[in-house]
Amino acid sequence: MVDSVAIEFAPALDLVLDALEQMRDGGGKLPRASRVSLTQFQSSIVAEPVRRPPEVVDKAALLAPIQARVAVCTKCPHLARSRTQTVFGVGNPDADLMFVGEAPGADEDAQGEPFVGRAGQLLTKIITAMGFTRGDVYIANVLKCRPDMPRGSFGNRPPTPEEMQTCLPYLAEQIEIIRPKVMVALGATAVEGLLGTRAPMHAMRGRWHSHQETPLMITYHPSYLLRNQAPAEKRKVWEDMLQVLERLGRPITEKQRRFFT
Ligand code: URA
Repeated sequence: MVDSVAIEFAPALDLVLDALEQMRDGGGKLPRASRVSLTQFQSSIVAEPVRRPPEVVDKAALLAPIQARVAVCTKCPHLARSRTQTVFGVGNPDADLMFVGEAPGADEDAQGEPFVGRAGQLLTKIITAMGFTRGDVYIANVLKCRPDMPRGSFGNRPPTPEEMQTCLPYLAEQIEIIRPKVMVALGATAVEGLLGTRAPMHAMRGRWHSHQETPLMITYHPSYLLRNQAPAEKRKVWEDMLQVLERLGRPITEKQRRFFT
C-alpha cells in the first residue's frame, strides 16, 4: 500500500528534484539545495513511510556527478582552453581530515591529481608523519584548473579573485558532502577561499578558525617550506599538524612530538 503511494508520487518527486537541481546548478547563491539534502529529502519521502533503515550516504557516489561537471566546466574559458585536464580531488570521501590547497600546478595538470609535484611530495611526507596515508585523508584545491601562464614562461601564478569566485562553489559542494571533522587550509589562497579573509599568514596560522562550524587549522603552504628551508618554519607547520592530531583525538607518540625540534 505505502509502496504504491511512493510509486504514485515518484513522477511528482522527480519534478521537484529536477527543479531543485536546476536551482542548484544555476549558479545563483539562493536558494540552493545540496546533493546531500536532495538525497536525504528523497529518502525521507520515499523510504520513511515504509520504515526502511536510514540509508548510509555513499559520498563517493555523491561526489562523482560533481567531478563529472567539473571535468567539462568552461566557466573560465581561458582556463578550459589552457588546461590539460581538471584536478578535482583525491582521497577518502569519508575522511575525517581534509586538506585544501590553492590550485593545480604543472604536475597536477599533467596527472589529474592534486599535490603530486614537489610541494605535493612534501605534503605527502607531512601526512605520513601524522600517521595517515594520502588515501586516509581528502585533498582538494580552491581552483580545479591550473591557472594559465604566458606561453614559454615557467612557474605558477595565484588564481585571480574572479577565478576563485567562479570555482569555489565546487569546493563548497565537496566539503558539504565529505563533512570532515577537521580541515587544514594550506596557504593564503586556501584561507581566502574558505574564510574570505586576506591577512598575513603568520597572523593566521597555528590557531583554530571555523569554516561553517568545521574546525579549520591554517598553516603554511608546502611550497613556502620549499622556498624557506629553515627548520624553524618546518617546526611551525608540524606544530600546527600536532594540533590537528589532538583535535582528531589521535594518539601522538613522543617521536612525533619531537619532530623538527
Ligand atoms: N599547490 C597547490 O596548492 N595545489 C596543488 O594541487 C599543487 C600545488
